[in-house]
Amino acid sequence: MKTLLITGGAGFIGSHVVRLFVNKYPDYKIVNLDVLTYAGNLENLRDVEDKPNYVFEKVDIVDAKAVNAIFAKYNFDGVIHLAAESHVDRSILNPLEFIMTNVVGTVNLLNAAKESWSSNFENKLFYHVSTDEVYGSLGETGLFTEETSYDPRSPYSASKASSDHFVRAYNNTYGLPIVISNCSNNYGSFQFPEKLIPLFINNIKNNKDLPVYGKGDYTRDWLFVEDHATAIDVIYHKGKIGETYNIGGFNEWQNIDLIKLLCSIMDNKLNRELGTSEKLITYVKDRAGHDKRYAIDATKLENELGWKPSLQFEEGLEKTVDWYLNNDEWLTNVTSGEYQKYYNKQYELN
Ligand code: NAD
Ligand code: DAU
Repeated sequence: MKTLLITGGAGFIGSHVVRLFVNKYPDYKIVNLDVLTYAGNLENLRDVEDKPNYVFEKVDIVDAKAVNAIFAKYNFDGVIHLAAESHVDRSILNPLEFIMTNVVGTVNLLNAAKESWSSNFENKLFYHVSTDEVYGSLGETGLFTEETSYDPRSPYSASKASSDHFVRAYNNTYGLPIVISNCSNNYGSFQFPEKLIPLFINNIKNNKDLPVYGKGDYTRDWLFVEDHATAIDVIYHKGKIGETYNIGGFNEWQNIDLIKLLCSIMDNKLNRELGTSEKLITYVKDRAGHDKRYAIDATKLENELGWKPSLQFEEGLEKTVDWYLNNDEWLTNVTSGEYQKYYNKQYELN
């Protein structure tokens, strides 16, 4: 029996990773550590919460004592670290929170792993889940490879870049066995509706404006979240210690084209006349420091570890829309209370 710590397991990607590991590896004990911020939601894990190989621990990774106590309690074989503040717009509103969770929180986990494994690093692994945003912004052409220099440009990406550097430094300085992956934009079920796709699905459903930043001519590279989870599984089990793997779907979309595709899918699902949802598009003030284009070269992962995305984008987007329309209660629960305050502040509605 292996014991594995997954941090941030109540969030969007983390909940998919927890679900995959709990179901696929009944002989692993999966400990989900999460402090349950606005983005963490145990409803995301209702289908696995009663499984005998699953445990939840409500812990703040910024609290070093609490983190050390969890390591002492479980004697982990491995860590998959996803807990983070993850929304770029929020990082512009409050950078310090991102430094605390993403940098200090990560270093607390590294220290705890180093201490707890100090007698023998063999067969241990600290897997840090990171983002393509650490590489900065691309022009019209080119792709981010694992060799691209870091050039973070938002408080969020600066905090993630810093955490990546610390993870590598612990490998170089102390020999801690680590692996890092940098993934492109995820979409799918259980994503908090502050991010583009679920926000726009929710707004279309409620006939609310679709706030497109700038001219909508920014490009992102989209990957279905369950494909990210399978990539993490492959990298955790087959990745080479000390290495970095880029994860992406070779699936670039300009925001406005993606939004128009989403509008047409929504018209179809809601039995509205084609063109109805597009009328909600409203061009608003651009995001400060908005990165122009991200695009990932994921050939290393495919060539060395044999991972490939399983879904075409149109299929994944339709599945995602179906999920949000069929999970009205989830959407209503997460958009009540604090959500409205954030929304009004972000979109300058009051
Ligand atoms: P999310 O915001 O949906 O979830 C983050 C989770 O971390 C939440 O459950 C939250 O409660 C928890 N958390 C936050 N602060 C914590 C703290 N101090 N202590 C313990 N738990 C805390 O994020 P996500 O989109 O699922 O992203 C997960 C990870 O993947 C992040 O590290 C992010 O940088 C990375 N990533 C995200 C994407 C994406 O498109 N969403 C792409 C690439 C990489
Ligand atoms: O690239 C990986 C990153 O993708 C992850 O590391 C981040 O955690 C994740 O949030 C995501 O960052 P983005 O900033 O790319 O995602 P977001 O959904 O916020 O925005 C996608 C694009 O849509 C971006 O160009 C900004 C634009 N946008 C977003 C929102 C919320 C709008 O035009 N209007 C909006 O209201």
